[in-house]
Amino acid sequence: MKTQVGIIGGGPSGLLLSQLLHLQGIDTVVLEKHSREHVLGRIRAGVLEHGFADLMREAECAARMDREGEIHEGFFIAHDGVKDRVALKELTGNTVIVYGQTELTRDLYEARDKRKGAVIHHAEDVMPHDLEGKPYLTYRSGDEIKRIDCDFVIGCDGFHGVSRKSIPRAKLREFERLYPFGWLGVLSRTKPVSPELIYCKHERGFALCSLRSQTLSRYYIQVPLTDKEGDWADDRFWDEFKRRLPPDAASQLITGPSIEKSIAPLRSFVAEPMRFGNLFLAGDAAHIVPPTGARGLNSAASDIYYLYHALLDHYKRGNDDGLNAYSQKALARVWKGQRFSWWMTMLLHTFPDQAAYDQRLQETDLSYLFSSPRALGSLAENYVGLPF
Ligand code: APR
Ligand code: PHB
Repeated sequence: MKTQVGIIGGGPSGLLLSQLLHLQGIDTVVLEKHSREHVLGRIRAGVLEHGFADLMREAECAARMDREGEIHEGFFIAHDGVKDRVALKELTGNTVIVYGQTELTRDLYEARDKRKGAVIHHAEDVMPHDLEGKPYLTYRSGDEIKRIDCDFVIGCDGFHGVSRKSIPRAKLREFERLYPFGWLGVLSRTKPVSPELIYCKHERGFALCSLRSQTLSRYYIQVPLTDKEGDWADDRFWDEFKRRLPPDAASQLITGPSIEKSIAPLRSFVAEPMRFGNLFLAGDAAHIVPPTGARGLNSAASDIYYLYHALLDHYKRGNDDGLNAYSQKALARVWKGQRFSWWMTMLLHTFPDQAAYDQRLQETDLSYLFSSPRALGSLAENYVGLPF
């Protein structure tokens, strides 16, 4: 097989790039290791910045997002028994859309189907080859080894994928920070406790009230890294979650059976550069953030924006400046997302064995935030998404 752009990974990054390029007449093949059901079975993020929403519209995949997604003009930070609002719209003129990554991925798959896009599932043992020359991909389908020749390989295969690992160690620098806790997430078909998100700083640990719609709640609590899903029966989760909410929310909480429950460790990670020869990394394949600032999916989207325009310049105008600048340009924005996610995480979580000095700094950071419109404006402009 032959294509122009070979994409590894059929998550949001790979599908969005494939769809955008297809609309411009550029041929792509997406190789996805798992079944579509598996990819759509994962519950992930839920907050889209406005730039990402615009990219979905450009990809002609935004009809359901615009119909069913909720526009949020602000969110709350609860601390010390009070609830302070971050008025995103007032502070920045912009808003975010609450729309689940699962739904967004479903819309992208449907769009690829409608245009007969090549998305190959169950592609086993995907391997990129000759990345500094004329690249090609191989994969196994049953007993058969198949080969796809392409101009470029795009690694959209997430943190555990093969793309980043195929870059020689000496050519890659990795930056990482691990946090001493995870988030236990619960999805439940109950009316959300608050129409807007509440990030709760609490001495027992952080909690987040999020949602997917006005009938579907998504809640999280900070848990020790050693905890397993099985340690958290529904009753125990609701009890602990409620204790971490501000009083007005706690009194209105509606509980119900969980329909999904999972624990994710918190990690910050960046691989540099995001290019090796004709291989370009995008999304979780190159960088991970803790979920506190809602940046993960949005950072992936900005990579796709840069890469899409760089590939257009290459194919339509014979200009490689965008491709040559891709890594530097993408990383500049990636690192701003890293800084913001790290800062939100440090601000709102309870750290085991935290020094008294660090605790005071955390308290001071919060009181400064809600006494300075400029500090709050900085939070807000990062949350709605810095310009691409
Ligand atoms: N070969 C082919 N496909 C692979 C391989 C491989 N070796 N390894 C992983 N994949 C697939 C995964 O099955 C997955 O469907 O690549 C896809 C990567 O998708 P994501 O992990 O969702 O990464 P990405 O598309 O960059 O999405 C960005 O934003 O909210 C965050 O972390 C969250 O997934 C989210 C991300
Ligand atoms: C979510 O709804 O899953 C969610 C929302 C905001 C975050 C993280 C996760 O910061």
